[in-house]
Amino acid sequence: MTSFTMEAPAKLNLGLAVTGRRADGYHDLVTIFQAVTIVDVLTFTSVERGDGSGPTHFTCSDPSLETPDNLVLQAVDLVRSHSGRNDRVHISLEKAIPAAAGLGGASSDAAATLLGLDGLWGLGLDRTTLHDMALNLGSDVPFFLKGGCAMAAGRGERLSRLANDVDLWFVVVTPALSSPIPRKTASLFAVLEPDDWRDGGNIVAQAKRIESGLELDPDLLGNSFERALYGLRPELELLREAFTRAGAPFVALSGSGPTHYTAVPTQDEAQRIETATRSLYSGEATSVVCTRHRTQTTAPSAPR
Ligand code: C5P
Repeated sequence: MTSFTMEAPAKLNLGLAVTGRRADGYHDLVTIFQAVTIVDVLTFTSVERGDGSGPTHFTCSDPSLETPDNLVLQAVDLVRSHSGRNDRVHISLEKAIPAAAGLGGASSDAAATLLGLDGLWGLGLDRTTLHDMALNLGSDVPFFLKGGCAMAAGRGERLSRLANDVDLWFVVVTPALSSPIPRKTASLFAVLEPDDWRDGGNIVAQAKRIESGLELDPDLLGNSFERALYGLRPELELLREAFTRAGAPFVALSGSGPTHYTAVPTQDEAQRIETATRSLYSGEATSVVCTRHRTQTTAPSAPR
């Protein structure tokens, strides 16, 4: 029996500018992804029984995510069809990243699955193959092959790694919506209007600041989904107010939400804002945490 464990980090979007709609139905955007220390943990186990071939057995700490359309299972299918491997494998997923929250949890799990099976089965997949498979699974998935801090363009797959991470403590709140938004990401992209589009200059300027080791500029953290999301779920204003009353220096939206965050230089300050936000926010929250940046990960090597 061989076992292999991978951590799959969450990301925050440090600003997100949708620049226009494309002919293929996707949107072009410019954003900065920063991986953080909220992590799901995936364990891959190969069970040598008979000739070793067999199905994929998938379990998750949140059983509602054990569905055939889980990106983990889609990633396994891609690796199997590319490599021709039909080995029996057990994958267990311990979730810490709230689902459908704008934190990239499912995308990160998918990237970890590509890397995990590559390692478990010693496939030696090259970077281009991994990148193509990742993009096939979703626009955000290529970022998670390395994590760290990167500016992204195109659908989110044209990545420029930034030399520095954003060395701050983030207070991250995922509110529970009064009712979930079905197919949230696709639905929010679908209701964007040309007025929501931006040229992305703010994101490029922020990326330059990060590369130069300058402070994050809160005025450059705008997100093209704000109008559409607050229109659909006006109660999110309560969360923005709670953050502000708790002394947060700014409030920003991650991805297509509903997660919001702020950032401060020290852990003490972050914990103070976390505690105050918890008590001031009158809505329900799925998760309220302090977290830090997580530096770029390197692909695992094959188990011995
Ligand atoms: O790429 P992903 O599968 O995560 O995207 C989900 C949906 O979100 C897409 O089918 C598309 O409708 C929308 N989308 C988009 N432009 C992007 C990324 C996603 O319109 N850059």
